[in-house]
Amino acid sequence: MQFRPLGKSGINASIVALGTWVTGGGTVWSQDTDDAESIRTIQAALDAGINFIDTAPAYGFGRSEEVIGKAIKGRRDKVVVATKCGLLFNGEPGVDHFFLDGHMLRRNLHPESIRKELEGSLRRLGTDHVDLYQTHWPSIEPDKTPIADQMACLMQLKDQGKICAIGVCNVSLEELRENAARGDVASCQMRYSLLWRDIEKDVLPYCQRQNIAVLAYQPLEQGLLTGKVTMDRKFNKDDIRSHEGWNPWFKPENRQRVLELLDGWKSLAAQYKCTPVQLVIAATAMQPGITHVLCGARRPEQASENAAAGSLVLEPQDFRRMQDESKAVFATRG
Ligand SMILES: NC(=O)c1ccc[n+]([C@@H]2O[C@H](COP(=O)([O-])OP(=O)(O)OC[C@H]3O[C@@H](n4cnc5c(N)ncnc54)[C@H](OP(=O)(O)O)[C@@H]3O)[C@@H](O)[C@H]2O)c1
Repeated sequence: MQFRPLGKSGINASIVALGTWVTGGGTVWSQDTDDAESIRTIQAALDAGINFIDTAPAYGFGRSEEVIGKAIKGRRDKVVVATKCGLLFNGEPGVDHFFLDGHMLRRNLHPESIRKELEGSLRRLGTDHVDLYQTHWPSIEPDKTPIADQMACLMQLKDQGKICAIGVCNVSLEELRENAARGDVASCQMRYSLLWRDIEKDVLPYCQRQNIAVLAYQPLEQGLLTGKVTMDRKFNKDDIRSHEGWNPWFKPENRQRVLELLDGWKSLAAQYKCTPVQLVIAATAMQPGITHVLCGARRPEQASENAAAGSLVLEPQDFRRMQDESKAVFATRG
C-alpha cells in the first residue's frame, strides 16, 4: 500500500481509503446493508493495508459511524478516521438539502451546531478525537454561516485536540480559497472518477499548488467502473443509481459506452495481473493532484480487492492510454 500526506497536517493516509456511505444502508443502496458484514468489510480493509476510513453522520443517520466504532475497537490508533459536519437529520434547524428515508437532511455550519455534531460523532465512533473533520456541504442562504466563523470554530476544535486536521467537501474554488485563507485546510473531498473530471479545470490545480490533499469520492461510479454492473442489472426505483440526475452513467446508452471502455482495458488488466477495478483505482490515484481514492465497499472481498490496488503503479504509457480513452468517454457525458 502506498501512503500520502493529508496536505500539511502531518497525517499519512493510505491512497486507497474505505468509503462507508453504503455502511449506513437505506433505500439509496437498494438492499439493506448488514452490520455484521460491514464490520467484516472494515476489518478486511484494515487487514489489507487500508488505514483511512471516511464516514459522515448522515450515512444511515449515525449508523455508519456506529458500525465503524465497533469495527475499529482495539485498533483505533492505527486508523485515520475522517468524518464530517454540516448535514443535520434529526429535525434540527438548517437549510433543506435532501429528503431521505423519512429524514430531511439540512445544511447547518453554525459553530454551536458543529461543536454539538462533533460530540455525537465522537460518541458513535467510540473515540476522543477525529483525525480529519470535514464540512460536508457548504453553508448556503437563507441561513449562511460565514466561512470565517466556521473555520474559527474548526481551528478551535483543532487546538483543543478534538480534531487533528480540517477538510472541506463539495466546494467551489471560491469557497475553497476562502476556507484556506481562514485556517489550515488539509484536504478537499470532491466527486471525481475517470468519468467525472470536472474539478480538473479549477479545484484540482489549485489544491496541487497549495499542497491540499484531494480525496476522490465515488471513484468507481458507484460500482459501474468495476465492470460488474452489466446491461441487465436493474436497481430499485429508490436506489440512488436509478436517479439519472445523480449518475447519468447508469443510463443504458451511457452504461454501454462504459462497458466498452472497460472491455478495451482487459488486455491491460491481464498484463498487470489485476482486476479491472484495480486498474481503475490505480489510474485514478495517478491522476495529477488526486492524492487519495475513497472506494465504497459492501463486502470484505470488495474491500480487499480495492486495497490491493494501492500498491499497483502503471507504466506511463498505460496510464496515458487510460487517461486519453476515459477522457474521450467523459466528453460524451453532456
Ligand atoms: N463528500 C460527499 O458528499 C460524498 C458523496 C458521496 C460519497 N462520498 C464518500 O465516497 C465514498 C465512495 O463513494 P460511493 O461509495 O458512493 O461509490 P463508489 O466507491 O464509486 O462505489 C461503491 C460501490 O461499488 C461497488 N464495489 C466496490 N468495490 C467493488 C469491487 N471490488 N467489486 C465489485 N463491486 C464493487 C459496491 O456496490 P454494490 O455492492 O452495491 O454493487 C460499492 O458499494 C463513500 O462511501 C463516501 O465515503 C462522499
